[in-house]
Amino acid sequence: MNITIVGPGAIGCLWAYHLAHHGHQVSLWGRENLSKASIQLDQNSPVSLAYNQVSELQNADLIIVTVKAWQVEEALRPLVSHIHSDSMVMLMHNGMGTASWLQQTLPNNPLLLATTTHGALRVANHAFNHTGVGVTHLGGINTSGKQCSFLAEVLQHSLPDVMWCEAIEQALWNKLAINCAINPLTAKYSVPNGRLADEEYYSQLCNVVKEVHLVMQAEGMCIDLAELQTKVDDVVRLTANNLSSMQQDIAHHRRSEIDFITGYLLSRARAHQLELPYNQALYNDIQRLEQTFEQEK
Ligand code: PAF
Repeated sequence: MNITIVGPGAIGCLWAYHLAHHGHQVSLWGRENLSKASIQLDQNSPVSLAYNQVSELQNADLIIVTVKAWQVEEALRPLVSHIHSDSMVMLMHNGMGTASWLQQTLPNNPLLLATTTHGALRVANHAFNHTGVGVTHLGGINTSGKQCSFLAEVLQHSLPDVMWCEAIEQALWNKLAINCAINPLTAKYSVPNGRLADEEYYSQLCNVVKEVHLVMQAEGMCIDLAELQTKVDDVVRLTANNLSSMQQDIAHHRRSEIDFITGYLLSRARAHQLELPYNQALYNDIQRLEQTFEQEK
């Protein structure tokens, strides 16, 4: 397949490397002024990929957008006129709340959302490490996107495990719960994920999960609280040494995904007249930190 990855950060390059390695024609689209980029994953030999080539974008069968949720509009808006209506467009990021903009902007394309628990880290400009093997869930959000289940098999050959979801919302909410629980707490206390299992933090983690579960129930998601808590605990354990993406953003004084993680949760809670004091307090804490970075500029 001809595949363009928009947003060649750690997750984007992880996919780019594996897809190219498995015979796909992969190109990158990013902010650098390049026509080619050589990317390296772990100790493997680098692969050289076309970069910002309009012809590659126009011919793409699949466009995987791996920028952060708050960058989706800014990154895609200038590309819309080059995207063929047959190209499948798939967003892959933490958080929720970008689907409706995509549906309004590219109503004729097959549209998909994906969520992944793979961990990847940038170690140098175009060099990345695969820090945690995870699972990727994907599913369509419009009629033509829902007909693209073959894509799960294509992606599975390159970077397993990949699962097709008839109802991608459930997988996105499960991942949102994980991110609401892990990301703001690790960012606030500047600790690796595994520390949240310590007595000092664990009751806070559980309070966050209980509130997320209330909203998930109101949204019609089928999962009981114990199962949701187990999913969160599993990720805390399996990614114990990882620094969450929000911890890294806050530590480097960058804008985080809080508006699309806890912010999205709070907006859905408001729609159901639910109050979430623990999540609201964490949201305020992270926002306050981000505002201090703005003042530094
Ligand atoms: O955002 C992150 O860092 C990741 O989604 C996760 C799963 C919390 C692991 O660090």
